[in-house]
Amino acid sequence: MVKICCIGAGYVGGPTMAVIALKCPNVQVTVVDIAEPRINAWNSGTLPIYEPGLDDVVKQCRGKNLFFSTEVEKHVAESDIIFVSVNTPTKTQGLGAGKAADLTYWESAARMIADVSKSDKIVVEKSTVPVKTAEAIERILTHNKKGINFTILSNPEFLAEGTAIQDLFNPDRVLIGGRETPEGQKAINALRDVYANWVPKERILCTNLWSAELSKLAANAFLAQRISSVNAMSALCESTGADVSQVSHSIGTDSRVGPKFLNASVGFGGSCFQKDILNLVYICECNGLPEVANYWKQVVKVNDYQKSRFVNRVVSSMFNTVSSKKIAILGFAFKKDTGDTRETPAIDVCKGLLGDKARLSIFDPQVTEDQILKDLSMKKFDKDHPSHLQPASPTSIKQVSIVGDAYEATKDSHGICILTEWDEFKKLDYQKVFDSMQKPAFVFDGRNIVDADKLRKIGFIVYCIGKPL
Ligand code: NAD
Ligand code: UGA
Repeated sequence: MVKICCIGAGYVGGPTMAVIALKCPNVQVTVVDIAEPRINAWNSGTLPIYEPGLDDVVKQCRGKNLFFSTEVEKHVAESDIIFVSVNTPTKTQGLGAGKAADLTYWESAARMIADVSKSDKIVVEKSTVPVKTAEAIERILTHNKKGINFTILSNPEFLAEGTAIQDLFNPDRVLIGGRETPEGQKAINALRDVYANWVPKERILCTNLWSAELSKLAANAFLAQRISSVNAMSALCESTGADVSQVSHSIGTDSRVGPKFLNASVGFGGSCFQKDILNLVYICECNGLPEVANYWKQVVKVNDYQKSRFVNRVVSSMFNTVSSKKIAILGFAFKKDTGDTRETPAIDVCKGLLGDKARLSIFDPQVTEDQILKDLSMKKFDKDHPSHLQPASPTSIKQVSIVGDAYEATKDSHGICILTEWDEFKKLDYQKVFDSMQKPAFVFDGRNIVDADKLRKIGFIVYCIGKPL
């Protein structure tokens, strides 16, 4: 029986390994993590992350061929294939701070693998890493161990949160990069055999190591670039009377462009787009390519511009001040169907409104009060680091209340900001909401999900992204 161990039981390690276990009954999969509460949660009835369909997959295999454990070294030593899926956040200090990837967690995992291994291993980069990381990891792994062969593969993950299980069941592609040596090719084939249990062969792409590492950064940069492009157009739409949804549709029907991922929004969030682009920018700078670096930097700059543009619009339309006004924030997660708030645009929007002395009443169906308060008191980039490096949760922040439903959030408010596209916000009884609000009642739809005409008939003043008033 092939034994797989995955270091890192997070948003990627947990779901990815659960699906491998489900699809490969002959493989034993153990997910290990140094965070005991996280492992306990994976072993409990309440999983540590919210992801549609995940509970079901875990229930089917946990205790059979899927295990979660804090005995990191033991399981690493026993395994044939070791996935490393630890966090690779943006560095907050030192050389490359604010841009470069922090590989501390990766390096410590690699050193541990080198220390405890007693047999040959295939070590798989699952985390998103800078191109050429495998070279450094190889040097760490082979440093002390005479006689043990470590073969490194790059197998970046392309799942998106909220659709992780669907993405893993039916991936557009699986990418495996390896050395162009007999050992490298043998390792590629071993990993390809695992995926071939459910992924059609033509969708398993095999490349050299550096292409695989760079393809992951490039894929996220291209995806984020589409959003910044459409968001840049949304600003022009607002100034000209064009409607960004009509523009997106017109562009997207060109088969060379395609219709997906062209929704204008308050800005992209999530743990990876910004981090990976900044990392790409840093790599370009280090390789003496400032023009290329500046090109990609602009994607993040437009995203920051979109968030501050949203805040400015709220304040300027509410008679240039939101001081002491109650603003309802509907949605805090970075997208629907996840409780993840890493780099969510809601953080910047809320901080912007608080800067103008607004009172915020926040509701999100999946994000806890504790998490929201932590996010609003944390510095940029700290979020993706382990919890012991994060500030203790404040019991409260003046001017912020976290409430249990959308009606409570909107009651007596002067304005509503929709920041996450949760389906339940489309279905609210907006007449009831309007009746309970201060007048004039404003809606700022940061996700373009409401029927603006219907709301205007009720009496709301509605601002959508990139649409005429
Ligand atoms: P995460 O923070 O949710 O999980 C990482 C886990 O690794 C944490 O639980 C942490 O405790 C653990 N860890 C860190 N160092 C460890 C060590 N030395 N030994 C054992 N455990 C250790 O992160 P994530 O969202 O799962 O992302 C992991 C990687 O995958 C990142 O590089 C990210 O860029 C990439 N990625 C993420 C997504 C996503 O949707 N979140 C998608 C594709 C790729
Ligand atoms: C993204 C990629 O889609 C995954 O392929 C990749 O594996 C992952 O990053 C990663 O490397 O972490 P994710 O961040 O989970 O996945 O979610 P997306 O669906 O890509 O959304 C990212 C952000 O862009 C969200 O805030 C979303 O609301 C926003 N978005 C997305 C838009 O504003 N408009 C769109 O048209 C699409």
